[in-house]
Amino acid sequence: MARISQYMASKALLSAAVAVGLTVSPMAGPAAAQEYPSRVINMIVPFAAGGPTDIIARIVGDHMSKTLKQAVVIENVVGAGGTNGSTRAARADNDGYTIIMGHMGTHAASVALYPKLAYKPDVDFEPIGLAAGTPILIVAKKDFPAKDLKEFVAYVKANTEKMNAAHAGVGSVSFTTCLLLNSVMQVKPIAVPFNGTGPALNALLGSQVDYMCDQIVNLVPHIKSGTIKAYAIGTPERNPALPDVPTSKEAGLPDFQASAWNALFAPKGTPKPIVDKLSAALDQALDDEGVRKRLLDLGSDIPGKDRRGSQALGNLVKSEIAKWSPIIKASGAVN
Ligand code: MLT
Repeated sequence: MARISQYMASKALLSAAVAVGLTVSPMAGPAAAQEYPSRVINMIVPFAAGGPTDIIARIVGDHMSKTLKQAVVIENVVGAGGTNGSTRAARADNDGYTIIMGHMGTHAASVALYPKLAYKPDVDFEPIGLAAGTPILIVAKKDFPAKDLKEFVAYVKANTEKMNAAHAGVGSVSFTTCLLLNSVMQVKPIAVPFNGTGPALNALLGSQVDYMCDQIVNLVPHIKSGTIKAYAIGTPERNPALPDVPTSKEAGLPDFQASAWNALFAPKGTPKPIVDKLSAALDQALDDEGVRKRLLDLGSDIPGKDRRGSQALGNLVKSEIAKWSPIIKASGAVN
């Protein structure tokens, strides 16, 4: 259904528009863009609190609140691998007061995993900017009977029918990257869904599930304390936050190359001056020493200036949809 801005319509025009079935969205005009923000900004996190996307959203959201002089409030909208929250964000008013911390799953992999996805990541959103890159680790419960990745693969292959692999729902990063891992190992374990890898990690800490693929920012303290095992990181280089964890290549599974990213988006039609203000506030957050230390200590990869901003994110979304769709199709996860 076509959207027109209140700014462009006189009262008479408004009722005429409604009469012919147009919806009138309270999109902000130039004046409103100048005053933006004049109230609290709602940042949707499409996964449970305490997980990697929530952690990154709260770190950058805090700093953006200071820059924008309005609170950025996190709303966790869970379910369907993050596509529930993303659908909510795509349909929200495009006035700058609802934004979303999406990621490689919600804004790329979901396209191939949900043929009837309710939104188009590269069409229904205004990209604001990349917040953090998040390398993927293969982790297992602390008493998993394998000392290294080779033994892990052998044990999973020999016991697949009783292996419980946790994930954050179809379309999530943990689901998509373990789809790749399980394809590489040629196994189909029991997939155990959660509303996020925050709760999935709790189940792993309690040995209720056996293993998962997850974003580094959720894992560093637990790997360092030995409460979970880490067998490999899916990047060409080791991560400075976890220097003892081998790369998948070093550990003997070079085909498992996996990294994710988290980024901010606004609903389609959010005025450019407002998107630019949000991009600038995110940029300032990523330049802030305190924010950088927290993100780097958790192993995330902070984008350089060339990878920041709306245009770079728009290009990333397109390239990631193109990258993950064939991997997902090859895995046989979608009929
Ligand atoms: C989360 O924050 O729980 C994750 O981003 C979920 C996922 O995509 O694996």
